Amino acid sequence: MVRDTTVLMDEKRIFKASDEIKENALVKNWESEIEKGKDLEKYWSEKAEQFEWFQKWDKVLDESNKPFFKWFTGGKINLAYNAVDRWIKTEKRNQVAILYINERGQEKKITFYELYLEVNKVANALKNLGVKKGDTVSTYMPMCPELLIALLACTKIGALHSVIYSGLSVGAFVERINDAKVKVLFTADGTYRRGKIIDLKNIADEAILQCPTVETIVVVNHTGTPIEISELSGREIFYERLIDGEPAHCEPEPMDSEDPLFLLYTSGSTGKPKGVLHTTAGYMLGAATTLRNVFDIHDDDLWWCTGDIGWITGHSYVIYGPLLLGTTTIVYEGAPDYPDPGVWWKIVEKYGVTKFYTAPTAIRHLMRFGTRYTNLYDLGSLRILGTVGEPINPEAWVWFYENVGKGKCPIMDTWWQTETGMHMISPLPVADLKPGSTTLPLPGVDADVVDEEGNPVPVGKGGYLVIKKPWPAMFRTLYKDEERFENVYWKEFPGYVYKAGDMARKDENGYFWIQGRSDDVLKIAGHRIGSAEVESAFVGHPAVAEAAVIGRSDPIKGEVIKAFIILKEGYELKTHLIEDLKKHVRYELGPVAVLGEIVQVDKLPKTRSGKIMRRILRAQEMGEDLGDTSTLEE
Ligand code: PRX
Repeated sequence: MVRDTTVLMDEKRIFKASDEIKENALVKNWESEIEKGKDLEKYWSEKAEQFEWFQKWDKVLDESNKPFFKWFTGGKINLAYNAVDRWIKTEKRNQVAILYINERGQEKKITFYELYLEVNKVANALKNLGVKKGDTVSTYMPMCPELLIALLACTKIGALHSVIYSGLSVGAFVERINDAKVKVLFTADGTYRRGKIIDLKNIADEAILQCPTVETIVVVNHTGTPIEISELSGREIFYERLIDGEPAHCEPEPMDSEDPLFLLYTSGSTGKPKGVLHTTAGYMLGAATTLRNVFDIHDDDLWWCTGDIGWITGHSYVIYGPLLLGTTTIVYEGAPDYPDPGVWWKIVEKYGVTKFYTAPTAIRHLMRFGTRYTNLYDLGSLRILGTVGEPINPEAWVWFYENVGKGKCPIMDTWWQTETGMHMISPLPVADLKPGSTTLPLPGVDADVVDEEGNPVPVGKGGYLVIKKPWPAMFRTLYKDEERFENVYWKEFPGYVYKAGDMARKDENGYFWIQGRSDDVLKIAGHRIGSAEVESAFVGHPAVAEAAVIGRSDPIKGEVIKAFIILKEGYELKTHLIEDLKKHVRYELGPVAVLGEIVQVDKLPKTRSGKIMRRILRAQEMGEDLGDTSTLEE
């Protein structure tokens, strides 16, 4: 749904960086860094020198087979080696790498050296289980240290990981595991959420019955719930047992730059979620460089990204970006408002967080409490703030700026996607900011707004957001679906320009204002979910004949689902059926699929070929003109 936030925007209101921010900044001149980034190969190859390569690359960018771009071909490198092993040879050896904190106030600190030992043990154990380079390992886990360790262990031995967000449920789980033919799964007994323990194991147990390729299930007893050993039969093994006695050294697998690194499933406008494939060197480079530049990461920083590792934000900016820079990363498990809505601010004070990155939905939620909680704690350690996942409305931006950042922390509104792997359009800390604008494409990124034919649109006019040149952390394909990769993203506009799936406009300073998705992808509390997936969950219920869903705007979550359903004969949409439908969709997709409203209808608007026209439902919902209805059946 395209949410037009134009009315709220004040393009003339500019927030300038303080002298202190400017003096400290690693990149002091935004414009000249953007200028440097125009020489793509030079820019990115200079940045690539930050890593330890086993073998240097021959070619920076290979564009010979568009859109299958390749970066740093001929190079050999290992992610885990650069994120962990490299630091134990330096003064960072005993520095905290992972600072795990949960909503109960418990914490665990893991130094780079301790991380090194445990990653090696898990890596060796995986090898013993028969996991080889190119195999896929999945995780269905809470935000906990073992999750990061498992992922790093995969990258150390060259196995791909495919993380399943712990808020997804059975249906989504089974689809992901089976599509990727997963061999080993890591899961846990449960996760802490709002004072309760959410059972993950029972979902995994149920789902796994439908996943024949999984040979081993590694169980972390995270919340200490007693798990009967008798339950751990056949395919299951406790995490502690898995690593017990494993050697503490493991040679990193020298990976070709373009060797697959991980899969991450995400929703598109049609069909099932697709496996977005990222490869090794370019992804590492994109994640590390953007984190350093956008959040101005120095050695004394304490970095906190509240994103979940189940999504790309957690991959790039909870695990890989920070560890590749040798920066302590906070891993937080829990809700933003439990035990009270001051929990995050309490953590900022207690640990002295300097850089804080979160989602607009969380800001809107916490903003309801005014200054009550932000004033309870000393937030003076904060230097830079950031947001991601959906457009931020200027009110929320200003509240965040004034009450959390106390008027001295610039806000980095970062636009990017699972597919892009790294921040693409975002200010740097020295930039002039306008609340609600993601400002300019980052150095080394070439983005634009175009019309249906692919021509740049005039200032102020809405259009399709595109990326015109390749970037290192770009996804390389959709798993087992090169055709969809080419057709959905690269064929719409001439010249192999990447179509992002968002609408945007540019103002007279060239600043980008993201308006929302141009396709049938919903953004619920920043989570991405396809209309088609929700519809198919509805139709899986015995009472539903047909379903169409659209996003309905919501003041906190951005969007929630509005479903139009045709019931089968003999059914009526009474309270118990509504409850049952909600339960069913939640069972299939998980709590991410937030149902706002279910409406019973007799007919759905369709094209003559039978395709549901969600556009008509959306226009009706918003009281807008129905637009071109020539293809409508009746
Ligand atoms: O619609 C855009 C929105 O999130 C989409 C990508 O979702 P996902 O792949 O789940 O990745 C989210 C985290 C990177 C985009 O197509 N989006 C992301 N960041 C912003 C945004 N919309 C507006 N402003 C942003 N800063």
